[in-house]
Amino acid sequence: METIPRLAANAPTEDVVAGLREHGAVIVEGVLAPDLLARFNAEIDPILEQVRPDRSYLNPAIDYFYGKRVRQITGVAACSRVFGEEILCHPFYAGVCDAILLPSCSRYQLNVAQVMDRGPGAEQQLLHRDEDVWVHLPRPHPEVQLASVIALVDFSAELGATVVAPGSHRWERGRQPEPEELACAEMPAGSAVVYLGSTIHAGGRNATADRWRRGMHMSFVVGWLRTEDNNYLSTPPQVARSLPRRSQELLGYAAHDAIAAGGGYLGTVDLLDPVDLLAQGKL
Ligand SMILES: [Fe+2]
Repeated sequence: METIPRLAANAPTEDVVAGLREHGAVIVEGVLAPDLLARFNAEIDPILEQVRPDRSYLNPAIDYFYGKRVRQITGVAACSRVFGEEILCHPFYAGVCDAILLPSCSRYQLNVAQVMDRGPGAEQQLLHRDEDVWVHLPRPHPEVQLASVIALVDFSAELGATVVAPGSHRWERGRQPEPEELACAEMPAGSAVVYLGSTIHAGGRNATADRWRRGMHMSFVVGWLRTEDNNYLSTPPQVARSLPRRSQELLGYAAHDAIAAGGGYLGTVDLLDPVDLLAQGKL
C-alpha cells in the first residue's frame, strides 16, 4: 500500500503545504488538542443521539453515496459553540488555507463542516474527488478547495479510516487508482487527514461489529464559488451574530471584495459588507 506523509500540528505551515502540493494529502497529528476534542465530542454526543442513520438525502444518488449506516450533522456552527468559536477559526486551517486558496481569491470560506459518524457495516464510499461538486469548472484550474477529515475517535483501517490515493491530484481525469495505490489514514483522535479537492479518496468500510467511526469533514473553498452547505441558512444571522468575526467571515457573511485585484465584489447586502451589518445589529 501507499503511505500518506505524517506531520505534527506544530510543524511549519510550509511543510504541510509542501506535502499537500507533492502528495495531495497529509496526515497532521494533534490538530485538535485533547481538551478541545473532548469538549467538542461532549457537545455533539446528544445531537448524534437524535440523528437517524437511515434518513434520506437530496436525491437517490446521494442516498446511495452515504448509505443507511451513517449519522451526520451539518450546520455544525449552529449547534456547537466549540466548533463556531474554536474549530472553525482554528489557526492551523488559517495557515494552510492562506497558502493554498488565497492566491486564487480575495477571501476563502467554509465549504461545509459535516460530522460523519460511520456505523458498523458502513461500506466504503465510492472513490471520488471532492471538487467534482463544481463539475462545471473548466480544467485545468488552480486549487479551489482545501479539505480534511478530522478524526474525532482513533481512526483504524478496521473502523473505516479515510482511504486516499496519494499523488492523484496530478493524475489525468480518467485514471482510477489500483488497490496498491491507496493509503489508509490511520491516526489518533484529534488528527486530521488534510487533502486537496483534486485528490481521490473515500470514507473507509467500517468492518467492526459495534463501533462507530466518528469524524468530521471540514473543507474550505475560494470565496467566489457556491458552497456545498448553504451556510447562511444553516447558520442564520441570529446565530452567526454571536460568533467571532473571523467565524462570521468564514461562514460567508463577509463580502468577497476583489476590487484591488482588478475585479468586483460578491455577496453584499445593500452594497455593504454583511459582516459589518452583523456587527452593527442591522442583520
Ligand atoms: Fe469526500
